[in-house]
This record gives sequence, structure tokens and C-alpha cells, in this order.
Amino acid sequence: MRKVLLIGKNGQLGWELQRTLATLGEVISFDFPEIDLSKPESLREMIRRISPQIIVNAAAYTNVDKAESESELAWKINAEAPGVMAEEAGRLGAAFIHYSTDYVFDGTKRSPYLETDEPNPLNEYGRSKLGGEQSVEAAGAASILFRTSWVYSLRQGGFVTKVLQWARQQETLRIVDDQVGCPTSARMLAEVTAQVIAQGGDDLPGYFEKKGGLYHLAGAGAASRYGWAQAIIDLDPKKEEQVVKQLLPAKTVDFPTPAERPLRSDLSIEKFEETFELSLPPWKDGLKLLLS
Ligand SMILES: NC(=O)c1ccc[n+]([C@@H]2O[C@H](COP(=O)([O-])OP(=O)(O)OC[C@H]3O[C@@H](n4cnc5c(N)ncnc54)[C@H](OP(=O)(O)O)[C@@H]3O)[C@@H](O)[C@H]2O)c1
Repeated sequence: MRKVLLIGKNGQLGWELQRTLATLGEVISFDFPEIDLSKPESLREMIRRISPQIIVNAAAYTNVDKAESESELAWKINAEAPGVMAEEAGRLGAAFIHYSTDYVFDGTKRSPYLETDEPNPLNEYGRSKLGGEQSVEAAGAASILFRTSWVYSLRQGGFVTKVLQWARQQETLRIVDDQVGCPTSARMLAEVTAQVIAQGGDDLPGYFEKKGGLYHLAGAGAASRYGWAQAIIDLDPKKEEQVVKQLLPAKTVDFPTPAERPLRSDLSIEKFEETFELSLPPWKDGLKLLLS
């Protein structure tokens, strides 16, 4: 039976991957503190010991604001560790899947970002994730790199959970309408990842050699944070618990944060859809499913 190594099993995406990867082989999964990505040598030893045919890395340093003051740690986890995984995958002839972010872009483009657009991260998190893309590419292993955006689930206290909470606590909510991205369901991301691996059949290394590279993979369409919050409030299955009466648009400058964020970082998913002949559902569909 094929061994699938999943790193970051307790995160939003990792949690969903535990389920979707199970049809592909024996899933051996880890998270911090069983494995610490800031210690690349222990990671290398662990991969050699397990000797998997597939490695999926869903772990990352994802606290965008904290990364400003912990850039060294973010760099180790987001840039160096994925490079070690890719190197070890290459050594084993294993397929490697890794995830990156729309925050590699500066958000000044006026249309959805393509894979060929030049990255220019505005913050340390984005710089460390771009470093990860580069270290994976440099390792030269058969790998697929999915750049995604605004990942959500009901785990880890993300945006959906916060909006549901605020709507129960405050009559007026002010949410920024000048940040635009692609809300992406962690569940959809995990399902599509498994579908892509399944397409490789019995010749995964050959398939990854052929299709390997960088792809934008996110919920179809784009939304502002304001539009996303409106949809969450509308689709809330326990609307009777809400006290919110009005949702007001605000501007990013009204809510200063340690890390600067790109204003418009929605991703074009055309290359992904054409290459894998899969169609990604509209972002709101994933939200409906999560909240139904
Ligand atoms: N969330 C987003 O909006 C978003 C947007 C674009 C791209 N992405 C990318 O998508 C991927 C999945 O994101 P996600 O939202 O599922 O992330 P997440 O929920 O924050 O999960 C990340 C996981 O990595 C683990 N981790 C952190 N530091 C570690 C370390 N030193 N050693 C081992 N594990 C460690 C975390 O453990 P602890 O909880 O114990 O720290 C957590 O289980 C990441 O590559 C992320 O950069 C996310």
C-alpha cells in the first residue's frame, strides 16, 4: 500500500486532507509538536524513516501579523522546511505537494493574478512563502505547488468563525471593502488535492514530472472582505442568534495592522482548470456547504 505523509494534520487544510487522502493509501500524519518544521534536520530524518511515495505539506507559519516580529521563525518554517521536504521527496522519487499564498503579490494588479505575474510580497509572511516556492523549485523534485487564497473552515478561529461571533455580539459591524481575494474552502482544497493525486494513477512520479509546477487554486470568483462577511451573515444557519443590524463598509487604513496586506490579490484559476480538467466551484458554494 502506498504511504502518504501528511505534515500539518491539525490545521484548517490538514484536517480536511486527513479524510480526503485516505483513499490514496496509508496516511501517516504529523503536526507540531510531534514534528517541528523549524528544525529541518529532524524533518529530514523523519521523512527518510517513513519513506513515503507522496508527501503533502499543509503546515505553515500562518500568523501574518506575528510574522513581522518573528520573521526568522517564519522563514525557517515557510521557506527552509519545504525545501528540505522537496529535496527528500526527490531523493525518494516521491511526489510532493505544497501550498503557497496570494500574499506573494502586492495587490496592485487590476485583474486576477496569473502564475506568470511577478511576485512582490508586502509582508514577512508573503516573503517567507515566496522563499518556500523558490526552495521547492530549486530542489528540482517532482512537485506541485498550489497557490491559494483566503482559506477558511470552522477550525482555528478564522474569518468565518469571527464574523459569526461578531454578528452575535455587535449591532454594527464594519468590515473592509477594499481588500479583494478568493475565499477558498479548506474542504474543497483538500478534495481537489486528492483528485489531482488520484489522476496520477500508478505512475505518480511520471505524472508529477509531466504536470508538476505552480498553479493557482482557489474558490472561483472574487469577493471583498465586506462581501464575504455579508454572505456569512446571510448563510448563518442560526440567524435567530444574531444581534447584528447593519454591516458597514470600511477601509483597510481604518484598521492598522503590523503587516501590510495586498488590496487586490484574487487569483486566476484558468491554468489549473485547463491542466487538470477540473472545474472549481464558485467561492460561495463552499461557504453554503460549510454553514448548511
Ligand atoms: N489561511 C489562509 O487564509 C491561507 C491563505 C493562502 C495560503 N494559505 C496556505 O495554505 C496552507 C494551509 O493553511 P491553513 O490555513 O490550513 O493553516 P493553519 O490552519 O494555520 O495550519 C497550519 C498548521 O501548521 C502547523 N505548524 C505551525 N508551525 C509548525 C512547526 N514549527 N512545525 C510543525 N507544524 C507547524 C500548525 O500547528 P499549530 O496550530 O500548533 O501552530 C497548524 O496545524 C499553508 O501553506 C498556508 O500558508 C493559507
